[in-house]
Amino acid sequence: EKGGWNSFMAKEISEGPEAVENTMRGRLADSHVELDLGALDDEALRSIDRIVIVACGTANYSGLVGKYAIETWARVPVEVDLAHEFRYRDPVLDERTLVISISQSGETMDTKMAVQHAKAQGARTLSICNTQGATIPRESEAVLYTHAGPEVAVASTKAFLAQVIGQLLFGLHLARVRGTMADEAIAEVVAEMRELPAELRQVLAEQEAVHELAHWMADSRSVLFLGRHVGYPVALEGALKLKEISYIHAEGFAGGELKHGPIALIEPGQVVFVVVPSPRNEPLLHSKIVSNIQEIRARGARVIVVAEAGDAAVLPYADVVLRVPLTLPMLEPVLQVVPLHIFALELATAKGLDVDQPRNLAKSVTVE
Ligand code: M6R
Repeated sequence: EKGGWNSFMAKEISEGPEAVENTMRGRLADSHVELDLGALDDEALRSIDRIVIVACGTANYSGLVGKYAIETWARVPVEVDLAHEFRYRDPVLDERTLVISISQSGETMDTKMAVQHAKAQGARTLSICNTQGATIPRESEAVLYTHAGPEVAVASTKAFLAQVIGQLLFGLHLARVRGTMADEAIAEVVAEMRELPAELRQVLAEQEAVHELAHWMADSRSVLFLGRHVGYPVALEGALKLKEISYIHAEGFAGGELKHGPIALIEPGQVVFVVVPSPRNEPLLHSKIVSNIQEIRARGARVIVVAEAGDAAVLPYADVVLRVPLTLPMLEPVLQVVPLHIFALELATAKGLDVDQPRNLAKSVTVE
């Protein structure tokens, strides 16, 4: 039950820290990650030369975050595909390809069929799933359960955090098995991952600004989201959540794409959320996103930034600042997405909508 919360979505957002803790539980050693992937043993993981991630919706966006981490750490090329696009194509796969499916429910029809499509062509298969014993993990050679706990609200929130964590764990495991990352470097990521639950609690405790924003924006007709690198999937996720439960037109863009079209949408008063990487971690990316902000502000956009607590450089460019604690670049999405989830929830609530049962949507899409 909702345990005192007004909606399952609100309850599940509040459960983010435990979801992340439970996904990591028993899997973090000091300088490595312990994963038992059954048939996908070290030898199998050394034999693959490519990874394809297949998923839908929010799970697909978590896969985009996973791609950056796995490629950086394990030096294996990763593609991310929508399961329904993948299954109706003729993708190039063989026994050296690992197809990772990501699904909260483990019952999404297109994702299940994508796994079957992959198996039929001899690819290896791993399922990252939140539901014990669901169909997709049963169809896969190996499974990494996310242990986020049951997710009832149609809008996926804590499961996204756990899916990102699951892929970070897998990426570190693969990096060790393939010898692409020194123990000290793995230890540094592990140490930062251990901080995430406390940092998430801090983010959840400091969302007064989001609340005010949502009330102020309840009549908006269109909201844009911008990000780069791992902030790009965060932007896509922020936009999806807003569409889903508040029925406001929303789009996510990669910062570098602005000049290739989307900047034409900017007119005075247009609200744009910008996901900003920490300047301490990523000075170059930070300066690129600040340039994007300058470009849209010059055209009258109202800019709401999600930025790291110590980032003073972004202040002159923001109308509203939503703060998150400093972490490593690949871990940033876990913290940055939370204010966007809360924003969607608060805005839909301000509009008087049923956030748990948005129109036209089902929790799991088991038909086509
Ligand atoms: O159960 P799954 O993770 O396979 O579901 C995939 C999507 O249907 C799901 O993430 C959907 O996009 C959510 N409603 C997003 O909030």
